[in-house]
Amino acid sequence: MKIRSIAFLILLALLGVGPPAQPQLSRPDSRQDAEGHFWWQHAVVYEIYPRSYADSNGDGIGDLNGITAHLDHLKSLGIDAIWITPCFPSPQVDFGYDVADYRSIAPEYGTLSDFDRLRGEAERRGIRIILDYVINHTSDQHEWFKQSASSRENPRRDWFVWKDGKGAGQPPNNWISNFGKSAWKLDPRTNQYYYHMFYPEQPDLNWRNPEVESAMHDVLRFWFERGVAGFRLDAVDSMFEDPRLPDNPMTAGTNQFGDPNQDRSAQMLAPEMHEALRRVRKVADSYRAVLIGETWTSDIQSLNAFYGRSLDELQLPMNFLLAMVNKLDAPSFRREITAANAANGWPTYVMSNHDITRSVDRYTPEEADKSQVAKLLATLMMTLRGTPIMYYGEEIAMVNNDPKRVEDVLDPIGKLGWPKFKGRDGVRTPMQWDKFQNAGFGKGKPWLPVHPDYRTHNVETQAKDPDSVLNYHKKIIKLRRTNSTLREGSYVPLNENDAHVLAFLREYRGEKVLVAMNMSGEPRTASFSVGSTARTLVSSTKAVPKTVKLAPLKLEPFQSFIGEVRN
Ligand code: GLC
Ligand code: CA
Repeated sequence: MKIRSIAFLILLALLGVGPPAQPQLSRPDSRQDAEGHFWWQHAVVYEIYPRSYADSNGDGIGDLNGITAHLDHLKSLGIDAIWITPCFPSPQVDFGYDVADYRSIAPEYGTLSDFDRLRGEAERRGIRIILDYVINHTSDQHEWFKQSASSRENPRRDWFVWKDGKGAGQPPNNWISNFGKSAWKLDPRTNQYYYHMFYPEQPDLNWRNPEVESAMHDVLRFWFERGVAGFRLDAVDSMFEDPRLPDNPMTAGTNQFGDPNQDRSAQMLAPEMHEALRRVRKVADSYRAVLIGETWTSDIQSLNAFYGRSLDELQLPMNFLLAMVNKLDAPSFRREITAANAANGWPTYVMSNHDITRSVDRYTPEEADKSQVAKLLATLMMTLRGTPIMYYGEEIAMVNNDPKRVEDVLDPIGKLGWPKFKGRDGVRTPMQWDKFQNAGFGKGKPWLPVHPDYRTHNVETQAKDPDSVLNYHKKIIKLRRTNSTLREGSYVPLNENDAHVLAFLREYRGEKVLVAMNMSGEPRTASFSVGSTARTLVSSTKAVPKTVKLAPLKLEPFQSFIGEVRN
């Protein structure tokens, strides 16, 4: 390159113009810390189901102003970002995951100015807002789908996946929906079928159409311009299906809705998905935003693919493998954590969300005390190397409140799967704020019944009890915020043959923090050769000396201990 052209490039650089900056991992930018970590790598993310968090106007439905009113709770908990599940206008067949307009707020949840106020108030408390990006499908009431369905010649016809049937009354192939029965619905107006991976009211978008892609990128820009810090991408793996639409091979047994099982790989993970995600990431990068993925995978190799070959897809694809262990079993957790730490990108842990039974229900062994297990799970989430995403109510050990009668079920898949599968209502019940009417959720009858344990399990009561699950969460999140070893340190598994105690070290610049959790209902001892004593940082039990011996360390049933190792 000639000197003149180099000088020209320098001049352009000084003027702040020139080729777009390439991400350079070797030279961190000002948004990265000494280890090259971004804010979202140190964050504690908190999922809010807006319908269930707090109802500000007494209609029984949670809303954005309700969230705003409780930001001080989140601040005192130590949360860095909230992910709000879809709060856009929607017929609410799938409680918001059927979006009728991506660029507005559902009237029952508030207005765009309520959103702006929430964002501003959150920002004042150092809390960022992450919204939900329902990329795979819209509602059948979205204007795009209404136009698409109106005639075969409509310019938006190809925005969704339309096909002729195989013959009279026969869908294009045998594909089934995630929510049971055929994944195709005949629209008699044009005598073609449309594809829906989820409910028939959720037609799949055709991401192979560049107009769809560009309209969906504009949705991101709309919210990034309003100050949103990132998105959680819904059902990413179903963005594209095999365009040849081959019949699925049948496999043994039936699913929870009674459909014969199939190998459904043709409905998921088409290679174009990765190219499309890279382009979504480019839009996010231009706003310095973070992308979290709903990435259910059966192993870490499949999860790896979502980071992108050169970490150019999702920054935080959720690791559900810990949430799927489903029993308090140290060896299984150890295996999954070790795998997560060998993944291509930064680990992202989830134990509970609005689709699965609450973690304390799944992990508390029979006869055991749920609050002890809740503290253990909190220890695990907050001390691992990675970003934890917690679910509202976890901080007070809320448990499932499943419907008792099919007539009471609101989640359509709960009606279809009854009584084997009762749907997801039980994990979405109102947040329990205090011991008064409706647990302080709101004045009107809540859309789902409050759990009867609210008189004891609520934020106000637990805030006053130093040993509560809530105060334990505050303590451990504060430790994570203030202890650089827990934020930045490497992960070193310890005592790998121990069947009951899950233990590891976090190591950073010569500092060692030991985390030990007794996953059994019996007292246990474990010996560690990493040092002779440890200074107690946090313990889930009441009285723990300031310094404890490491050979052996005695642990009470379900006790968690975190300490700084001394030689
Ligand atoms: C995701 C959501 C779930 C929703 C589905 C369809 O799995 O978490 O709640 O029903 O996508 O959008
Ligand atoms: Ca309301």
